[in-house]
Amino acid sequence: MMLHIRGLLTPDHVRHCRDILRDATWVDGCVTAGEQSSVAKHNLQLPEDTPQAKALGEVILKALAGNAHFMSAALPLKVYPPLFNRYGEGMGFGDHIDNAIRISPVTGGRYRTDLSCTLFLSDPDDYDGGELLFEDGVSARPIKLPAGDMILYPATTVHRVEPITRGERWASFFWVQSMVADLGRRELLYRLDQAVAATRQDLGDGHAASVSLVGVYHNLVRMWAER
Ligand code: NI
Repeated sequence: MMLHIRGLLTPDHVRHCRDILRDATWVDGCVTAGEQSSVAKHNLQLPEDTPQAKALGEVILKALAGNAHFMSAALPLKVYPPLFNRYGEGMGFGDHIDNAIRISPVTGGRYRTDLSCTLFLSDPDDYDGGELLFEDGVSARPIKLPAGDMILYPATTVHRVEPITRGERWASFFWVQSMVADLGRRELLYRLDQAVAATRQDLGDGHAASVSLVGVYHNLVRMWAER
């Protein structure tokens, strides 16, 4: 399942991120690429242990924690400290799959990448090319979102970033280790959560059907969540 999260960052937050990133020192994006993907990857990245990356990462983590859609769809156990990249003209990232396990030099923690996130920090008008594309039918259309919007997708999918032909594409990217590793179970819980919310709205929280459905949701989470 792929989820478009609108307005994760406010325009003020996007501006703040861009102001900090503009003055930052960037390095070759291959620093975090695996052996196969480093051949396909042509972009620039902010080193993960810089004060700028850490400070902006905190802004994003806070926004994620306050976003009900993200919490429901990802059921995060832990979120990898956000990374930042930029693609200038001629840069792109060919077909690849993200590494399954990542160790953060910032936290020292080990993360299983169940979900991948791309948070756009450039508006679509700022550049040509740079669409995020999926190989395995997750989404038929190329993804290019307004600044502040995020796409959440299963990390099990082969994907690429098309070459930039004009302007620059700035983004934050990171991974989520979910409490529910299985994609099918996670998707079911998300659909159920949506249905529960609609039922509660229609029938009221006191209705027996609402109480029962909320119970089913929580008992499934209890059954499937990693402890
Ligand atoms: Ni990737």
